[in-house]
Amino acid sequence: MPPSIASRHSRWRFYLAVGLAVCIVIAIKCFDGLRAAPVTRMFSKALGLETIANSTLGFGEIFVINMPHRTDRRDAMTLAGGVTNLTFTFRDGVKGVDISDNAWPKYGGDHLNNTGEKGCWRSHMNLMREIVHRNIGSALILEDDADWDIRISSQLEKVALATRTLTQPLLSDPNTYADPTFPSPFKDQPVTSIELSERPETVPPVLSPYGDDWDMLFVGHCGMQWPKEDTPDLSAGRVVVSDDNTVPDPDVLNLGWQSWDLKTLYPAYSRVIHHAKVPVCTQGYAVSVRGARRILADLGSRYTASVDNMYREMCEGQNGRIKLTCLAVQPSLITQWRGKITGGGDISASAQVPEEERKKTEAWAEKSAYLDGWSPNVRWSARGNTKQWAKGGNDGKWIDQWAPKA
Ligand SMILES: *[C@@H]1O[C@H](CO)[C@@H](O)[C@H](O)[C@H]1NC(C)=O
Ligand SMILES: *[C@@H]1O[C@H](CO)[C@@H](O)[C@H](O)[C@H]1NC(C)=O
Ligand SMILES: *[C@@H]1O[C@H](CO)[C@@H](O)[C@H](O)[C@H]1NC(C)=O
Repeated sequence: MPPSIASRHSRWRFYLAVGLAVCIVIAIKCFDGLRAAPVTRMFSKALGLETIANSTLGFGEIFVINMPHRTDRRDAMTLAGGVTNLTFTFRDGVKGVDISDNAWPKYGGDHLNNTGEKGCWRSHMNLMREIVHRNIGSALILEDDADWDIRISSQLEKVALATRTLTQPLLSDPNTYADPTFPSPFKDQPVTSIELSERPETVPPVLSPYGDDWDMLFVGHCGMQWPKEDTPDLSAGRVVVSDDNTVPDPDVLNLGWQSWDLKTLYPAYSRVIHHAKVPVCTQGYAVSVRGARRILADLGSRYTASVDNMYREMCEGQNGRIKLTCLAVQPSLITQWRGKITGGGDISASAQVPEEERKKTEAWAEKSAYLDGWSPNVRWSARGNTKQWAKGGNDGKWIDQWAPKA
């Protein structure tokens, strides 16, 4: 029996009601989802922290500068990269004597006779040129004696949250920053210390997971000072990572010969991210493509000091240099590995190291848990654990170079 007109009509009304209800449920769900969506999902091009876990640590590339004759160092870097699942792009370093007189900057200063330093400058400039030419968003540059903790990617996730806090606008008010001294520092400025866990939400970056407004990031250095109230040219904000179990005990914390504020102003096991002042050494720093353009344009044609000294001039906007936004991590995440047996550097011959300095270094080497070498501040050293890794089956238990003395 065919359904009557009346019953067809009521069935149609029933379907309509069900359809409408489904639509309402979907609409509510959508709205709810939108409200609860993590900030990054709302900015389709935003770079999340997860990219930092990739094989180039969230940078476009990791370059390693290596002199072709130092095959020992290329072997060691390759193994250390293997321990930490990193992919390196090796680039040959340059010898100072191979730089043509005609190519040498006409304006020079005191350091012109140190061919090691000249070669070092050119090796780094060659990389700046490649980053500019290939338009690589950001790159990490390592020298071939670099060492780092096996937990580098989780360390860098915290660094990225910190650098965003220091340089990205606030999400709640994109005309304002968490640090009132950024981007324009001033005389008698406040020093704002922000706990990482209490940082305000910032606008998600799209150029680099470390933020969109930086030129250099000194994840590695061998000494660093702090911008303060009395540094009117440098922003003074800081982000503090407390209870970081990758930071060594205070009695073996090695801050170079520079400022000891990390030890005196912050509790043990703190790591602090801030703007760079007087950065020393070039064993591990990142550069954005904007930074690479500025460095090549300035340092490529005007040589006045060793390359790290010229980076300092740019970070502080001194000596007529283009001013960069430079950030730093203390204690340093990437430090220099020193062989206990062989493998000294090529730039300053060990004979030139003063007696007192050598004694200090030997005392540190003695304290480290590794037989063949040591590095300051790095606990689960990638280099110190290469044999452990190559043997396999260590169940993730790595030799801790600076284990707390129980
Ligand atoms: C790692 O992530 C960065 C940032 O998203 C990206 O530029 C880079 O290409 C990635 N590296 C690899 C090997 O995929
Ligand atoms: C490297 O990758 C392997 C295989 O995916 C993984 O088992 C190991 O834990 C990774 N090592 C590190 C240091 O992340
Ligand atoms: C560099 O070498 C030249 C020639 O050997 C010498 O005259 C000059 O004093 C040296 N300069 C420095 C700063 O050592």
